[in-house]
Amino acid sequence: MKGIILHGGYGTRLGPLTLSGPKQLLKIANKPMSQFALEDIKNSGINEIAIVIGDVYPEKVKKYYGDGTNFGVKITYVFQDKPRGISHAVGLCKEFVGDEKFVVYLGDNIMRKNLNEFVNKFSSSSHDCMILLSEVDDPSRFGIAEFKDNKIHKIIEKPKNTDSNFAVIGVYFFTKKIFDIIEKLKPSWRGELEITDAIQRLLEEGYSIDYERVTGWWKDTGTPKDIIHANKLILENQEKQNQTEINKNFHGNVVVGENSSLSKDSLIFGPVKIGEGCEIGPDVILGPNTSIGNNVILKKCRVENSIIMDDCKIDGKISLIDSIIAQNCEIIKDNKQERQLLLGEFSKLKL
Ligand code: G1P
Repeated sequence: MKGIILHGGYGTRLGPLTLSGPKQLLKIANKPMSQFALEDIKNSGINEIAIVIGDVYPEKVKKYYGDGTNFGVKITYVFQDKPRGISHAVGLCKEFVGDEKFVVYLGDNIMRKNLNEFVNKFSSSSHDCMILLSEVDDPSRFGIAEFKDNKIHKIIEKPKNTDSNFAVIGVYFFTKKIFDIIEKLKPSWRGELEITDAIQRLLEEGYSIDYERVTGWWKDTGTPKDIIHANKLILENQEKQNQTEINKNFHGNVVVGENSSLSKDSLIFGPVKIGEGCEIGPDVILGPNTSIGNNVILKKCRVENSIIMDDCKIDGKISLIDSIIAQNCEIIKDNKQERQLLLGEFSKLKL
């Protein structure tokens, strides 16, 4: 089998975080979110992967993943000029796929359960498509599968009214038959060639569609709230690290990267992940559910349920909660009343 990771889209709901790069490169628990998809595909035994890049800093994606050697896979890049829909992006991969079966993984979806079982099932089955379903509270945000007599009856994109809460998650299995279907699709109300329309059409044309329910969590990281929640879920499952003597001040699962120094008067409440080369302290209270990137300096502050990316500096008596701070930001607070702010476009401050 082969793998496809979709890496396009504007990520508008994540502004301003997506002004300087594609959303799938935003780090969650110190790892770009699309790397979770890539590792999931690789660990299921697939090593030929196409990454569909769009017009939002595609060079950053190429720079990070290269030809795939560093990640133990072979990567082919496919360029999609504009976000014209998931089906459109898949259609561009026809040549890459050839005659093989394949899995499509949306680069902004993160799934707790690994792919192995699903890949094995689909590769040895005679189905033309397999979808994965997860129950959601807000069906109007997703593609939804409706059932009749225990069989999938209909697949609808973001329905306003439905009795089903089974979302079709962003991991799909296909054979090459999908390409003929995609060629016949028309853009939806949002101007995209929907993947749900392609699957619906497979159903209507009598192809056989299998499905599996996903146990464990799954996240579509469309909003800042989703990203903070995904960060928490990943940290809750991170592997424990052997603790050293400084760890009298650590509570719970705290993982610290190389060359990071932590002052003895700082308190850390796991789950927390700290990258390499960080300087934490004095007087810092960190966690829970917090990721700190590489080369971050934190002094006197409190950070909880948040993501602080690489090369940031936060110095002063400030409490940050439910926050996402992208690379190279500086937040300094002294005792003066005046505030000097230097904010990029679309910045968000809640003081
Ligand atoms: C896309 C799909 C939708 C699916 C979702 C999963 O939605 O169109 O069917 O349920 O991904 O993340 P979008 O992210 O384009 O709103």
